[in-house]
Amino acid sequence: MGFLVVNLKQYPVATGKNSIGFLEKLKKIRGNGKTEILFAVASSDLLACSSKFGKSIMSQHFDPVAAGPHTGSLSNETLLNIGIKRSLLNHSERRLPFEVIMKSLSVAHSSGLEVILCAESQLEIEKFSRLEVEHIAYEPPELIGGNVSVSTAKPEIIRNAALICRRSGQDLLVGAGVKKENDVTLSIELGASGILVSSGVVLSSDPSAALSSLAKALS
Ligand code: G3P
Repeated sequence: MGFLVVNLKQYPVATGKNSIGFLEKLKKIRGNGKTEILFAVASSDLLACSSKFGKSIMSQHFDPVAAGPHTGSLSNETLLNIGIKRSLLNHSERRLPFEVIMKSLSVAHSSGLEVILCAESQLEIEKFSRLEVEHIAYEPPELIGGNVSVSTAKPEIIRNAALICRRSGQDLLVGAGVKKENDVTLSIELGASGILVSSGVVLSSDPSAALSSLAKALS
């Protein structure tokens, strides 16, 4: 099963009091049998969105702490308690030291939280492919939020990353600068099994049409 992940980040149009209304507009768009559409929502919106939209909601981050005295943390136990079963980890905008990644994967694994671990380079993909994690997402930071997609700018890295991930039994997602159907088609042709997108959907004048056309390209 591949994923089309829409990362709502902290964009005001899709967070806080706007989060439910924003997702309402997108909920009728479905993946195909092979692709699931997921929404990575802000921590503050997880409970409300999960209650309303169920398993399509995932977290943008979590901390490797147990339940208890950890002020300001978001634990895997809290996520699972509110019905969240998946999370991004180590996004370029929320980078973590390697020891924290290891610890986070360990708690996620023992509790059943599924992780999409983000990597910025081929070197990092190679390193992460040796870890116990289901999905690796390649996002070159310099392309995030721009109009040049990862598939146009880094085709060779995607191709190599797909081989590395296939060898280790992991799915490869790619993201950054994805705006057009062709960005998705090309990523899949290069070997990715999923896509991460943010500004191309969230900041679009018609988020529903934007997501619909990206989802169609995955069919
Ligand atoms: O997690 C997805 C994200 O970082 C890509 O952002 O705005 O380039 O689609 P964007």
